[in-house]
Amino acid sequence: MAVLPIVTWPDPRLTRPCAPVGEAAGDPDVAQLAADMLETMYAAPGRGLAGPQVGVLRQIFVMDTGWRSGTPCPRVLIDPELLWLSDDRATGPEGCLSIPGLTTQVARARQVRIAWRDLTGARHQALLDGFDAICAQHEWDHLQGIVTLDRLAPADRAAALAQLAP
Ligand code: NI
Repeated sequence: MAVLPIVTWPDPRLTRPCAPVGEAAGDPDVAQLAADMLETMYAAPGRGLAGPQVGVLRQIFVMDTGWRSGTPCPRVLIDPELLWLSDDRATGPEGCLSIPGLTTQVARARQVRIAWRDLTGARHQALLDGFDAICAQHEWDHLQGIVTLDRLAPADRAAALAQLAP
């Protein structure tokens, strides 16, 4: 396993939609990538990391919302699809490993139903809520080329960019 360099905003690789992994999901190089992404996420430290954040423009992300509170739950989601988002939304603080030093208030669905492939290529579905739902939406956004800044109202985005300016 290896800790990979994390791509930081405004690198254009963070703004591009990613290609599906498809039938390659079971390949050893994808398993290696997933292991490296988990190690990179834990080292950062963070609770989610998407392919483009390590320069890989493929639809894969890893997340573990429990490890920092002592209940690790590593997940690898390949070709994820958000099948359903609740109308019930909540706004909360989000950081991003690719935008170090910035925390923004982002509105997200409280619950999502998500489908994905695992590292054998098998398909799964789950209903996520709480921080799992927020994290999955944040990482799914990365695979579409969307970062937290893109989810902000224009005035809030301008304020966040001013905060990032050297
Ligand atoms: Ni992020």
